[in-house]
Amino acid sequence: MNQTQQVITRITSKYGKNRSALISVLQDVHAAYNYLPEGSLDIVSAQLAVPLSTVYGVATFFKAFSFAPRGRHVATLCTGTACHVRGASTLLVEAETRLGISPGETTADQRFTLETVNCLGCCAVGPLLVLDGKYHGQMTAQRIAGVLEGG
Ligand code: FES
Repeated sequence: MNQTQQVITRITSKYGKNRSALISVLQDVHAAYNYLPEGSLDIVSAQLAVPLSTVYGVATFFKAFSFAPRGRHVATLCTGTACHVRGASTLLVEAETRLGISPGETTADQRFTLETVNCLGCCAVGPLLVLDGKYHGQMTAQRIAGVLEGG
């Protein structure tokens, strides 16, 4: 049994290998690795006796699940219309330059993942940067470095 199998076995056992715990199991696997590693869905499928197509369907339905390694910190810039007209594109260039990555990518040291989103429902305080779930409104190119440094 390899290390991934051991980790997933611990997780599925916690839920009594109950197939109704599929989402919780996937959340725990994601929390353990910060993404869903290659092969993890097959292991979950086998251990919960749930068809792989079902596991894959659930894993791809929820945007919170990532199939690529993610950084220890996730910086999400809103590029929706309201944030865009307030300068989100300038912020994105600033973030890309500072981190050396494009949206959807993770820095080589696994420190940051940069993402964009269309609207977070807080248009009044845009442009908006979310770092590890904390909202930073009225973001500016001058402030973004300080916020990222705190991550
Ligand atoms: S457009 Fe950015 S929060 Fe709505």
